[in-house]
Amino acid sequence: MVNKAKVAVLISGGGTNLQAIIDKWLEGELPHVDLNLVVSNKKDAKGIKRAEKANIECIAITEDFEENLLKELEKRNIDIIVLAGFLKILSVDFVNKYHDRIINIHPSLIPSFCGAGYYGLRVHEAVLEKNVQISGATVHFVNEIPDGGTIIMQKAVEVRKDDTALELQKRIMEQAEWEILPMALELVAKNLVEE
Ligand code: GAR
Repeated sequence: MVNKAKVAVLISGGGTNLQAIIDKWLEGELPHVDLNLVVSNKKDAKGIKRAEKANIECIAITEDFEENLLKELEKRNIDIIVLAGFLKILSVDFVNKYHDRIINIHPSLIPSFCGAGYYGLRVHEAVLEKNVQISGATVHFVNEIPDGGTIIMQKAVEVRKDDTALELQKRIMEQAEWEILPMALELVAKNLVEE
């Protein structure tokens, strides 16, 4: 039997990155991952339905977020936290408690178009404004600096001349985010259980 890392995925919205993880996990491509819990900071996040459909325990925490989150994580001995479209900034104290155990997906090639204020569609709007021709996605460890932790995996995606921010977002999700997030999670989980 393979040892598995217990994983919690944090979401705030659509949850398409969560879905990518669920799909790969159900296909058996994440052998070192035990997808244990999904946490949303919004009651109406679409991602909640995705977790329910896959029979993964899912909770919404809308008050005293970090305090309640910690309780839930400790109760289940969660090893790895994945930020999958989770748009709340976690405190330094929290991040230090899970040093090298929190990973985030960001929709650009860090260190470009990242940090405070760069999230969701805003990232792609800024890319188009600068006439940048290659963008992509990055999975990185989370530290005390927004989008500043060690990079784990990146994938480049072409920006087309006539792209809208929505079109670019969709292409980066399909060609990069949904591929590298599950892959990076498996890598981190494998390294952890084999430590
Ligand atoms: C994704 O594009 C993700 O990379 C981005 O928000 C979107 C969430 O989509 N995250 C950030 O901008 C974090 N700084 P999803 O809820 O469908 O996965």
